[in-house]
Amino acid sequence: MDTPVILKIFHKGKMKEYFVKPEGEMHTDLGLIKLDELKAKNFGDKISSHMGAEFVIQKPRANDFFNHAKRSGAPMMPKDIGVIISNTGLGSSDSVLDAGTGSGILAIYLGGIAKKVVTYEVRDDFVEIARDNIALTGLSNIECRHGDIVEEIRKLEERFDVITLDTIAASRVIPYIPDVIYPGGFLVTYSPFFEQAKEIREAIGKTNYIDVMTIETLEREISFTDRGTRPATARVGHTGFITIARY
Ligand SMILES: C[S@@+](CC[C@H](N)C(=O)[O-])C[C@H]1O[C@@H](n2cnc3c(N)ncnc32)[C@H](O)[C@@H]1O
Repeated sequence: MDTPVILKIFHKGKMKEYFVKPEGEMHTDLGLIKLDELKAKNFGDKISSHMGAEFVIQKPRANDFFNHAKRSGAPMMPKDIGVIISNTGLGSSDSVLDAGTGSGILAIYLGGIAKKVVTYEVRDDFVEIARDNIALTGLSNIECRHGDIVEEIRKLEERFDVITLDTIAASRVIPYIPDVIYPGGFLVTYSPFFEQAKEIREAIGKTNYIDVMTIETLEREISFTDRGTRPATARVGHTGFITIARY
């Protein structure tokens, strides 16, 4: 293998995991790992450190990129991405328009399912990070374009089945959605604040949408201890409001 891999080991009651390229060496508290040896391994095999610790080798999936990829800002959380995928019924024949790309995490999840993802990012330094992250996935159906989506959407000649807007500019993009969305297609926006969600609903209200809803998803991990079983004390708090409109 010559693509990045996940190395995992369960040690002293805790899972340790590393996202590594199969080149050079890595020092861990469980010893040195010669990463070049990964080239001759398969997923599911183990690789040993010089201290004899055995790490299982896994193929990275989209959630591993959420956990380990280089970040330019806050990527969308998997719980929110799941809601987008389930409520749009995203499938393998769909073309997706996404903005802003950020670290490219949402685009990577969507690219693993859809036929094509075109994603716009206004900052060139963020474009570079996202393109590097996308290249590491091996997905060839995600195109990261540099540009301001407010300007670029007016020039688009393509149409899309699903459009995702995770940017402060969303309400300024919404007036142009009817020009680039297939009938029956979905617009999804993500906004951290009530005020933005309201602005987005008002902008959608001025377009020819068929139906619309705004939701928030809550996730609670369950903790299992000798004392008992209950929702974990530490939890993911508020992330954002997701508005889903069908055209
Ligand atoms: C919260 S981040 C997106 C995170 C992304 N969904 C992910 O999962 O990694 C928002 C991004 O929108 C970009 N952005 C802001 N205004 C934009 C615009 N007008 N056009 C394109 N991108 C924009 C920002 O630079 C930032 O990277």
